[in-house]
Order: sequence, then C-alpha cells, then structure tokens
Amino acid sequence: MFWNTLAVGAVLAHSASAQNMLRFACSQLTVERADPLVTPGLAPAPHTHQIIGGNSFNLTMEPGKFDPAAKSTCTSCTYSEDFSNYWTASLYFKSPENGTFQRVPQFANVGLQQDGGMTVYYMPYSAKNNKMTAFKPGFRMIAGDPSTKKNNRVSICHRCLGNGEGFAPCDSKDTGELPNKYCPKGIRATIIFPSCWDGVNLDSPDHKSHVAYSNSGGLGTPACPSTHPVAIPQVMYEVMWDTGRYKNDAWYGANKQPFVYSFGDKTGFGQHGDYLFGWKDDSLQKAMDALPSGKCANANCSVLKIQSAADSMKCKKSQMVKEDVGNSGAWIKELPGGVMVQ
Ligand SMILES: *[C@@H]1O[C@H](CO)[C@@H](O)[C@H](O)[C@H]1NC(C)=O
Ligand SMILES: *[C@@H]1O[C@H](CO)[C@@H](O)[C@H](O)[C@H]1NC(C)=O
Ligand SMILES: *[C@@H]1O[C@H](CO)[C@@H](O)[C@H](O)[C@H]1NC(C)=O
Repeated sequence: MFWNTLAVGAVLAHSASAQNMLRFACSQLTVERADPLVTPGLAPAPHTHQIIGGNSFNLTMEPGKFDPAAKSTCTSCTYSEDFSNYWTASLYFKSPENGTFQRVPQFANVGLQQDGGMTVYYMPYSAKNNKMTAFKPGFRMIAGDPSTKKNNRVSICHRCLGNGEGFAPCDSKDTGELPNKYCPKGIRATIIFPSCWDGVNLDSPDHKSHVAYSNSGGLGTPACPSTHPVAIPQVMYEVMWDTGRYKNDAWYGANKQPFVYSFGDKTGFGQHGDYLFGWKDDSLQKAMDALPSGKCANANCSVLKIQSAADSMKCKKSQMVKEDVGNSGAWIKELPGGVMVQ
C-alpha cells in the first residue's frame, strides 16, 4: 500500500543517493467551492475542492502579500509550522440506479492518523549533492489539468486497493483513469508535482510553466533541465477514497464505474492538485537540509515542530461558500454548481 523504507530505497536506487523524505498526514480543513489559485475571489468557484493545511485559506491569497504563516492560527497538518494549503477535486459516487450523488469519504493512509484530508510528501528525487531549494513565500503551482482527456499515468494516477496493488507511486499497476473494477480497500489517487523550478517566478499564468519535471513526468531524477535548473522538493499528494462501501457487481466493468470527480470527469484523467506554499520562516529548508542526516524522515522530522493528531484534526474552517457539497453522507441531486458529468 504505502511504500515503506524498502520501497523508497528501491525507487531511489536510480538517483545519486538514497535519502529520506517527509511523509505526513493533513486532516480536512474544509470542503467547498473555493479556488484562490485558478479563480481568485470567485465565490463560488466552478467546482468542489477538498482543502487541507493552514486555516488562513481564503478566496483570495495574493502572492507576495498574503502570508499564510502569519495569518493562520492553526494547521490541519502534522508539522505545526506548515501553513501551506493543498487541495484537489472531490470525488462523488453517482448512483447508477437513480442518478443521485454522494461525496466519497476519505480515510487515513497506512500508519497515519487523520480525519479525511490527504497524505503529503516532500521528496528529494531531483536533489543534486543532497541539496534542494525550498519554496519561497508566495510560491504556488498546479499539477494535472482538469480539461485533459489524455492519460498521464506517471504523474496523475489511481490505485485499486485490495486488488493486487503495485509498489511505487504511479507504477505500471496503477491507472491514469479511475479503476473500472470494484476496489474493496479504496482507491488511492496520487498527484505528483514537478521537481524543478526556473529559480525566478513564484507563479506563472498557467500556474505550471515556472516548474518542470526532470523527465517525462512522475518521480524526478537529479537532472533538472537548463530552463528550470533549480531542484525543489518534489511534492506528492495521496488521497484515499473510501470506495469499499460501493459494492455491486453491476456498477463496474468495461468502460463502466460509478465515480466522477467534482468537475464532471468520470475518466479520472483530469484529476489535479493545487499547492500554495506557507511554511513558517525557513522551516521547510531546514527540514530538506536535514533529510540526508537521518534525523528527519516521514512524520518524525526532529528539526520541525510536530503537533498531535488530535490537534491537527481540530483545525477546521467553516465553509466560506455555504452550500451542501454532499456533507455528512448526504445524497445530492446534482454535482455542486450543476457541473455536468462527461
Ligand atoms: C478572508 O478574506 C476576507 C475578505 O478579504 C477577509 O475579511 C477575512 O479576514 C479573510 N480571512 C482570513 C482568515 O484571512
Ligand atoms: C439512490 O441509489 C443509491 C444506491 O445506488 C441508494 O443508496 C440511495 O438511497 C438511492 N436514493 C434514492 C433517493 O432513491
Ligand atoms: C522519532 O524520532 C525520535 C528521535 O530520532 C525517536 O526517538 C522516536 O522513536 C521516533 N518516533 C517514531 C514514531 O518513529
């Protein structure tokens, strides 16, 4: 399921040296139609997101002006100096019987304690001589593309859990599309961000051009292109969708499965992740510098402040855009915003 130290070592074998990474839980902060990156200020945003991190999350978060670390009073993440916001589309079950929707609940990843939310990784795959440059205040980026109809399995993928799963994230046993079979232990959605930066821009018009993958996508190598020479931590999200509760043989099969993302995508190719940096001071840089020493790994990085799972679960934000996005298991007649399934 999650790749343990052994798996990490195996995956890292192709890079200069094996070293640690951060892997930690962030509980749900809020679920709503807000998107300060793509549609700043717009209330409601076009589709539902599930959001984690600092509670200063807002409809508008201007780069360079809005400082999440200064404005937040709590974070839903393990590391209490991490006030970044991380968000993805929500997943809905569309009943093949009556066409109503139920938002699919999220559960904690292996070994972690959390209330919904995601697992966040900061990985050193593109580090050269063990060095990476942490993000600067105001930095933000997007991985994936909600409008794409193309399979991009190496960066955006789904794993059918309880069904002969693979090894490393987005490996050949995973699929770019949502699995068309019943996944008794859930579906793990993985979003892998680029690991190289142009060294200048905190953002770009498409929220992507200022960063690049070191290769054709997916997990990086210590070979950043000359256009984007700066190795940054490779961010990855894992979202665990509790699909085990939707068991009915009639709902799955060739080109058939009952789930749809909040932006209307039932293939899953368009799943995407948004990242808005908000670590306090130079805490993330300190952690990245400490990875090779062994004193900093996963959810137990000794140079960072760690809060209890209970405290991270307590950090919630009420919806700014108040509406029923399928709260508490409610059945809703349409996707929030009247988004069409396609
Ligand atoms: C969110 O933005 C609104 C409008 O600009 C502002 O009134 C509010 O204080 C902000 N909330 C936080 C937590 O910054
Ligand atoms: C719609 O179908 C689902 C199962 O597919 C069921 O659980 C739900 O209760 C149904 N809702 C209505 C309003 O019939
Ligand atoms: C975290 O690290 C400390 C010191 O390196 C160690 O004593 C402790 O057992 C670790 N805890 C976990 C849960 O791994």
